[in-house]
Amino acid sequence: MLLLKFGGSVITNKKKRDKIFREDTASRLIEELKLGLAVFRDNRAILVHGAGSFGHILAREHSIHRGNLGGGDYLTIVPRIRRDMRRLNHFVEKLLLEKGFHPISLPPEAVLYKEGEGIITPIPQGIAAMISFLQEGFMPVLFGDVIADKDLGFSICSGDDVMKVLSYLDEVERIIFVTAVDGIIGKNSNGTRGENIRENSPSGLLRDIFISNDDEVADVTGSMYGKAERIAEMAAGKEVLLINGNVPGRLESAVKGEPVIGTLIRT
Ligand SMILES: Nc1ncnc2c1ncn2[C@@H]1O[C@H](COP(=O)(O)OP(=O)(O)O)[C@@H](O)[C@H]1O
Ligand SMILES: [Mg+2]
Repeated sequence: MLLLKFGGSVITNKKKRDKIFREDTASRLIEELKLGLAVFRDNRAILVHGAGSFGHILAREHSIHRGNLGGGDYLTIVPRIRRDMRRLNHFVEKLLLEKGFHPISLPPEAVLYKEGEGIITPIPQGIAAMISFLQEGFMPVLFGDVIADKDLGFSICSGDDVMKVLSYLDEVERIIFVTAVDGIIGKNSNGTRGENIRENSPSGLLRDIFISNDDEVADVTGSMYGKAERIAEMAAGKEVLLINGNVPGRLESAVKGEPVIGTLIRT
């Protein structure tokens, strides 16, 4: 089975306040997924999508990732972020249905529980529910959102957090992150921006990643560094590939297991 994430930076425009779904891009990616899955072992996938402009802008402005310590008017803001995420999920679900998939949307609070920053516990019954939908031939679709947190009352669960939890499922053979960049940029020995990392180990990734200070992309979940930390913590022995979803054909090649431009992380 394939575990796949559509980054919020690909299916929305993260730099804009407008909550605009990039329907053309999402539609092409779903088409590519279909072509790729047709020749992928069991033809099965779990799809996770990010929040992009539907979640991160309000979340960042009101420090929602800090939960009840954030200090803002969270009673007003959290329900709006939740509404916006469901709207984005609805757009994705609609396209999947149009393209002949059998999606079952599951919110992240059904499969994981946060117990503080970075501490995530899978919920056994939620995971079991997801597996039973999978076994019947449905495609589970999950997304990042504001969820309950044992310490902070509530907090952000990113699409990357969902990926990390699901990476441990026995059924998952391959993991692909679709983003808006050609790969994870590495750093030179003096810390300046280097080349894209083609292949690395989980620990090598954290050592070699270029950390940009002037990242204009609003993301309360750590952007690429946060993603790299989660990738490094994913189930050992499973390959993780990060590709650019804005370039037609890459997702299809990646799902088919063909050589593709991107960053490959493996132990
Ligand atoms: N070392 C790096 N390599 C690649 N991208 C980086 C790096 N550091 C910061 N970024 C930024 O991180 C973004 C990807 O993270 P993010 O927007 O969170 O992706 P996603 O859409 O999957 O959530 C890139 O578009 C880029 O702007
Ligand atoms: Mg992100």
